[in-house]
Parts: sequence; C-alpha cells; structure tokens
Amino acid sequence: MRNRSQSFITPNLIFICCTIVVLLILFFQRTSISSSSNSVSKTNLSDSTTQQSRCPSTPQQCTKLPTSLSDALVHYVTTKITPQQTFKEISVSKRVLDKKSPCNFLVFGLGHDSLMWASLNHGGRTLFLEEDKVWIETVTTKFPSLESYHVVYDTKLKDSNKLMELEKTEDCKSVSDPRVSKCALSLKGFPADVYETQWDLIMVDAPTGFHEEAPGRMSAIYTAGLLARNRYDGGETDVFVHDVNRAVEDEFSAAFLCQGYLKEQQGRLRHFTIPSHRARSGTPFCPADVSRHRF
Ligand SMILES: C[S@@+](CC[C@H](N)C(=O)[O-])C[C@H]1O[C@@H](n2cnc3c(N)ncnc32)[C@H](O)[C@@H]1O
Repeated sequence: MRNRSQSFITPNLIFICCTIVVLLILFFQRTSISSSSNSVSKTNLSDSTTQQSRCPSTPQQCTKLPTSLSDALVHYVTTKITPQQTFKEISVSKRVLDKKSPCNFLVFGLGHDSLMWASLNHGGRTLFLEEDKVWIETVTTKFPSLESYHVVYDTKLKDSNKLMELEKTEDCKSVSDPRVSKCALSLKGFPADVYETQWDLIMVDAPTGFHEEAPGRMSAIYTAGLLARNRYDGGETDVFVHDVNRAVEDEFSAAFLCQGYLKEQQGRLRHFTIPSHRARSGTPFCPADVSRHRF
C-alpha cells in the first residue's frame, strides 16, 4: 500500500510536468513564428535592395538620373543660346510644375526653352503646338523626344482691334468645347487629342506676334482660357502668357483670362489660375473683380 505523501506527489508531479511541456511548446512556437517573420522582412529588404540597384520603372524607387534629363543638362550647359524668358519668369511656371508634375502641359510654340519644359515635366506629357514646319523639323531633329503638332492660324495681328470687340459677345462668353464654340476666336483645327486632354498647365508663348502680318496670339489666348474653363475633370488650369508688354498679349489676356483669375505677374509673364466652369454651372466668364493682383 502507498503512503499518503507518495499519492500526493504523483498527481502534482504529473501536473507540473505537463505545464512545463505546454510552456515549452508555446515558447518554441513563438520563436519559430518570430524567426519566420524575420526571414520574410529580410527577404523583402533584400528584394528592395536588389530592386533599387536594378532601378525599376517606378520613379520613386529609382535614384538614377534618367538619360533624358542628363542629356538636357548637358545641352543647356554647352549651348550659347538661352531661352527668351528670364530666370524670374521661368521660375513662375517652374514653381507650378514642381507641385503638379508629372502632369499634362500644353505649350504654344517650340523654342529654345522646349527641352527645359519637357524636362521639368519629366514623366508627364508636354505637347508643343507650332506654326512653322521648318522650325519643327529643326528642333525635333535635335530633340526627337519632344512631342509637337504643326498648327495653322487664320488670324493676323493687324485684325486684333476688331477681334477685341468680340469680348462683349455672348458667343465668346459661352463655355464649350472649342471645336463647337461660336466664338470666332476659338481655334478649331487642332488634332482631337488637344481638345480631349485635360491640361494642367498651358503656356502661350506663340504664335509669332511681332509684325502686322503675323498670326498674333489673340486666338491662342482665348482658346487656352476656353480649354481651362471647359475641363470636365473639374481641375484648375494654370495658364501663362508671355510678352504681356505687347498690346495683344496684355489686352487679350486681361479680357479673356480675366483680372479675377490673375495670380501673379513677373516681368513679361502673367500667370492665371482658371477653374473649370463645367464643374460649377452659372459661373460668369470672368469672376467679380476681387483679384489678389492687378495688371
Ligand atoms: C516668341 S518665340 C518663343 C520662343 C521661346 N520662348 C524661346 O525661348 O525660344 C515663338 C515662335 O517663334 C518662332 N521661333 C522661335 N525661335 C525661332 C528660330 N530660331 N527660328 C525660327 N523660328 C523661331 C517659332 O515659330 C515659335 O513658335
């Protein structure tokens, strides 16, 4: 017969042993989970390290300077021809591109600044509209990556005073796709793509407007404003007009891009921010004159 102390020790011993075994199982399970999760994060880390050194297509992960940008850099430090806009004028659009790029950027005119605009909008779309076919050939032979369309203007600078009278007409105050607008200033001959893209920035630095027979920028300024107002995605468009020291650029930008939308003027460059009127029906063509800046 077993004594009392023996019968007490045996169940307790069994219980303690079982508890130790359970604790040991739990301990080993946790260790194994933690080591496997470490190995997952290590795999990810080594994957991302490999990816970084391979420099994938996602720009955020890529630290290597794209060849298009290094080419642009070398071009501008070795050329003796500089763009016509000054450092301060370029800085106005650059600040907007710093925020908005990569984005859709429409530029009236090909010039010595074109490669710079396309580079500042790296990863976005920069499209140039140019009236001079020979000039397109010259520029794009040198910079084949630039996207441009040849466009025809049917206005003449000498008709600008007459065209300015259109400011008062309802046809020109009405917001629509430029292709169906009844305003004589609306440019209708561009490729469909120009009307169907939602442009974030529009730069009016063409067509030529320095002699009476030149097309002048009357319709380019009006159409830029119309494209901005007619944006169907509800976005705001930054519109820039260069050479506002000249009568046409000064008067047409004031009339059709509006004092109320003027954000800044720097030298010969005006910057307007134009909201979509489609998104807010009943918006007047020009807002009440409560602008922050004056011409
Ligand atoms: C006032 S310029 C704008 C130039 C641009 N901002 C720049 O810095 O080069 C606009 C128009 O001038 C014409 N143009 C500019 N440079 C030219 C050149 N070297 N030869 C022929 N046409 C030129 C093009 O038709 C162009 O659309």
